[in-house]
Amino acid sequence: MIQKVYGIDFGTGSIKIYRKKDGIIMNERNVIATMGKNENKRAIAMGDEAYLMFEKSPDSISVNFPMVNGGVARLSDMIMLWDYMAAEITAKPKLKGARFYIAVPADFNEVEKNAFKKVIQEGNSKPKSVKLIDKPICDAFGLKIDIDKTAGDMIVNIGADTVEISVIAGGGIVVSRLLPMGGNYFDRQILNYIRKEYNFVIGLRTAEELKKKIITANPSERTADVFGKNMVSGLPENLTVHSEEIYPLVENVFADLSTQITKILEHTPPEISASIENNGIYLTGGSSWINELDQFVADSTYMKVNTTKFAQKTVISGLGYLIENQKLADKYALPLY
Ligand SMILES: Nc1ncnc2c1ncn2[C@@H]1O[C@H](COP(=O)(O)OP(=O)(O)OP(=O)(O)O)[C@@H](O)[C@H]1O
Ligand SMILES: [Mg+2]
Repeated sequence: MIQKVYGIDFGTGSIKIYRKKDGIIMNERNVIATMGKNENKRAIAMGDEAYLMFEKSPDSISVNFPMVNGGVARLSDMIMLWDYMAAEITAKPKLKGARFYIAVPADFNEVEKNAFKKVIQEGNSKPKSVKLIDKPICDAFGLKIDIDKTAGDMIVNIGADTVEISVIAGGGIVVSRLLPMGGNYFDRQILNYIRKEYNFVIGLRTAEELKKKIITANPSERTADVFGKNMVSGLPENLTVHSEEIYPLVENVFADLSTQITKILEHTPPEISASIENNGIYLTGGSSWINELDQFVADSTYMKVNTTKFAQKTVISGLGYLIENQKLADKYALPLY
């Protein structure tokens, strides 16, 4: 039997899976749709398909997001989701004997990190081994930072529910902070604002699409139309939303982000921060694509900023690189607890 090796980035927003020699084989929303209760509970859809059912499904179907703030919040849903995914990525539902490497937030404690291990071990997969690698290490490889050579780099991964600020130097992670903020917060703010201000109902998915068009880290003049339901007339209609309306709801988050980055820089030894200054801060994660965020971070921290068009994939492609060179993957794998 050929032994398969998989890398997984369990993001709060989406799960990315890499299979050795095949590359990224899955990138799906971290969502599960189930029917029934207790022992009769079964998955009927997962990923993007389940996300489409969100806010649209009948009461008999429940659509859940098993992760919150980068961690496993509902273990049984997460295991069910993983089993469903595993069945899709392999002809045989059981990935018996496969090896897994999972990217985990560096700032998590052992229990929080081990929850990811449980997802694979307690499901149907029957793995040969499950090892964990810190996400900032994966990000560094994904961003093509030479971990062994760099005198210091800062990576800021801004995802769906987390911001992970990490400093890399001396071949490893010097510091990494996981903050409970990210793109999901903006979606909810936009949805609530439109509901209150205009008596207009949009779903979370529409709010996310709207966000991509009009959210900006600096004040700007953008507009976008959304389709939703007018609660007063009860009729579906279009509404035009301006970025100036949204900006005041979210500007504090950007200010917080810059404060946190500055705080970590201030606590970084001078020879490392000099190197970060020289190389520029790396922004990655899907929410690093927020309009003008790079400029905002550069202006507020007085640092150069690097962005990437692969922002949602730097963790998984770095993890992929490591498992293609498996000695490296084992070098960076966390010690077994
Ligand atoms: N063009 C864009 N503009 C703004 N935000 C975007 C854009 N494209 C994607 N996003 C946001 O990026 C987020 C998803 O990014 P990513 O895949 O890095 O998160 P994740 O890894 O699932 O979450 P986390 O790392 O926080 O656990 C979502 O909130 C999404 O709305
Ligand atoms: Mg992520």
